Amino acid sequence: MIIITGATGQLGSQIVHQLLERVPADRIGVSVRDIDRAAGLAARGVRVRRGDFADPDSLADAFEDATQVLIVSANDTGGAAVAQHAAAIDAARAAGAKRILYTSHQAAGADSLFAPMRDHAATERYLAETGTPFTALRNGFYASTVPFLLGRSLETGELAAPADGPVSWTTHADLAEAAAVILTDEGRFDGATPPLTAPDALDLKDMAGILTELTGRTIHRTVAADDEWAAGLTGHGVPAGQANMLLGMFRASRRGEFATTGPVLENLLGRAATPVHSILEGVAIPR
Ligand SMILES: NC(=O)c1ccc[n+]([C@@H]2O[C@H](COP(=O)([O-])OP(=O)(O)OC[C@H]3O[C@@H](n4cnc5c(N)ncnc54)[C@H](OP(=O)(O)O)[C@@H]3O)[C@@H](O)[C@H]2O)c1
Repeated sequence: MIIITGATGQLGSQIVHQLLERVPADRIGVSVRDIDRAAGLAARGVRVRRGDFADPDSLADAFEDATQVLIVSANDTGGAAVAQHAAAIDAARAAGAKRILYTSHQAAGADSLFAPMRDHAATERYLAETGTPFTALRNGFYASTVPFLLGRSLETGELAAPADGPVSWTTHADLAEAAAVILTDEGRFDGATPPLTAPDALDLKDMAGILTELTGRTIHRTVAADDEWAAGLTGHGVPAGQANMLLGMFRASRRGEFATTGPVLENLLGRAATPVHSILEGVAIPR
């Protein structure tokens, strides 16, 4: 059985739907925190069991008979995230899984300036030390982040943010399809994959230019000082630790951490990846 965690989340749910196109439903199990939210999958013949990374007994049941377990990284950060991932990895091994897959990031690195990338690196290290075959899916930066970065720039005409660098924005849908292909073609990647990203890397200035073209209204990219930008967030009630973490994303991007691209995602999909231009069209011309 192929077990998917986080199957009630955005990426995990799309992975399961892609997998259902490729393998019989009775070979798929999901490990979710709230089984009621997976009733639709149960109705399609998918095995639905409760699994919480904070409750190892639940994982033993949810991962029963697993040949492969795909662990969708939790949306926590720091030591808490790594401990949760380690618990899931331990449970997958205890269940006898022959391969463990983990949703890592293109910029996973112990010295990354963006904290979640250090968590991914620590999880990859933990996986490597187990000796169990694993695949770390080095996913591109989610394109779903783009509308948040653009903020109210379409209304104000100003896209103000700290200095940034190019990012190879990649959609959940493309990453989910690639994960399903890799799960189906067991063992295709051993260890960390090459970056699974869309082919173009754009910075905020590029995106302001595209929005200007799409709307016919000039959107100016202005650079905010790091400390002033972070102070603006804390002034709106964002905890200082979180503001600093978000600032790390800009610092990492201007160091080029998210600029890597490669053909592997498109090769897996057998088609072009979704370009960030189409995300910007959706923002500029809401349907
Ligand atoms: N590549 C990128 O650019 C990028 C950006 C942001 C985040 N990420 C990472 O990618 C992950 C998946 O993204 P997403 O968009 O699918 O996020 P999401 O919709 O928030 O999904 C996260 C999933 O993790 C599950 N989860 C959280 N804590 C858990 C625990 N203790 N035990 C078991 N499951 C747990 C959640 O369960 P529930 O459904 O019960 O809440 C949810 O299904 C994120 O969690 C994050 O680690 C990547």
